[in-house]
Amino acid sequence: GSKKLWGGRFSEATAASVEAFSSSIDYDSRLYKYDIAGSKAHAEALAANGVLTQDELTAIVTGLTEIENEIESGSFVFKPELEDIHMNIEKALIDRIGPAGAKLHSGRSRNDQVAVDFKLYLRDQCDALVGLLDDIRRAFVVLSRKYIGRVMPGYTHMQRAQPVQISHHMLAYYEMFSRDRDRIIDCRKRLNLSPLGCAAMAGTGLPVDRMRTSAALGFSGVTANSIDTSGDRDYAIEFASCCTLIQLHLSRLSEELVLWSTEEFNFVNISDKFCTGSSIMPQKKNPDIPELIRGKSGRVVGSLMSLITLMKGLPLTYNRDMQEDKEPVFDAVDTVSASLAIMAELLGNLSFNTEVLAKATESGCMTATDLADYLVMKNVPFREAHGIVGRAVAYCLDNSKELADLSLEELKQFSGEIESDVFAVLSVEGSVNSRNSIGGTGFKRVEEAVTVAEKQVGIG
Ligand code: ARG
Repeated sequence: GSKKLWGGRFSEATAASVEAFSSSIDYDSRLYKYDIAGSKAHAEALAANGVLTQDELTAIVTGLTEIENEIESGSFVFKPELEDIHMNIEKALIDRIGPAGAKLHSGRSRNDQVAVDFKLYLRDQCDALVGLLDDIRRAFVVLSRKYIGRVMPGYTHMQRAQPVQISHHMLAYYEMFSRDRDRIIDCRKRLNLSPLGCAAMAGTGLPVDRMRTSAALGFSGVTANSIDTSGDRDYAIEFASCCTLIQLHLSRLSEELVLWSTEEFNFVNISDKFCTGSSIMPQKKNPDIPELIRGKSGRVVGSLMSLITLMKGLPLTYNRDMQEDKEPVFDAVDTVSASLAIMAELLGNLSFNTEVLAKATESGCMTATDLADYLVMKNVPFREAHGIVGRAVAYCLDNSKELADLSLEELKQFSGEIESDVFAVLSVEGSVNSRNSIGGTGFKRVEEAVTVAEKQVGIG
């Protein structure tokens, strides 16, 4: 016969190959705390309605606490033949306290149990990610205050576009990670409904007070439909998609840091502490950390793809396929958390080469748009102004000059509307200073934006 907790209807023991293939204990042991918390809440609800005596409840709670301590101290032995974290803990409890332990699973299925564990785990991970996102947001705010008033080239199509403030560029990332923070908080809200009491998929006839277990576990309420609940992994997919956006933002930042730290750009210096050397080329200082973060985005995107693909063809409700939901989520959590933490640290050790950046804004006719805007203010239709400035730029290219180098006479060849007040417009300072539309790179706007961000992250 079978020695499994579910072995009654089986006349043969499970094949060793099946046990090895189907066991998830190697990775779902990570959920032990949540499994124990869920079991304690469930036992208390059973006792409140007379399914367990007070003595049985005490034995269960004490036994579970002891098991938790053993897991934490490393002395607990996980058994692959017991499949997963749920069975490992339940079996250990029964071995320890006897019949009371065997009553714990009344009115419960592993289907609602695993959903409770996973949701409680993800709730904690959401809170941890908000903390890590706050650290990186703070790092951008510190950089934006430090470099306020300093300029750099802004790019579109990787071509020099318009001069901007370094702080403005840093605050762009601040906005991206702030949206990520909002998304995680939103994800947490939606997942924080208790599955416990949905049992296998149809609910339970035993007196398990769902409101009671939900409150005990800190859920904000209970899920509405037991069929939906047993088959739902939307919350894991939503969480992984939040992780994907975070990693994507980190990856784009990494790409810029790799580029900016090349000799060709030389815009930033990443501190030696965050770089590594070459085993052959003595002169090398490589930006491995941003490179690895950029590379690791493949893992996070892969996790999201795994989860989506896993769920797409599944009929309601629970299917064993769904055990494959954990490793991608755990890998996404580990990757995103480690990447956020080290990037925040790296940003604290990053310096901008402000002179190189300022010099870079002085070539490439980057104030051409300003000249066109100047003509617009002199009543020249914008499309006409665009053509005039385009011809002036072509003249600059032919003569190896910058717009700001041209004399008034040279400029007047392109339009009679150009007067001596044009030079204020053609300077980098003048260009940046003029862009005071809401969200623009003007000095006044960026100063305001830095101050707002400082308040939001609790600095200053
Ligand atoms: N280890 C399983 C999982 O992660 C737990 C649920 C098992 N339920 C079942 N009916 N076999 O999905």
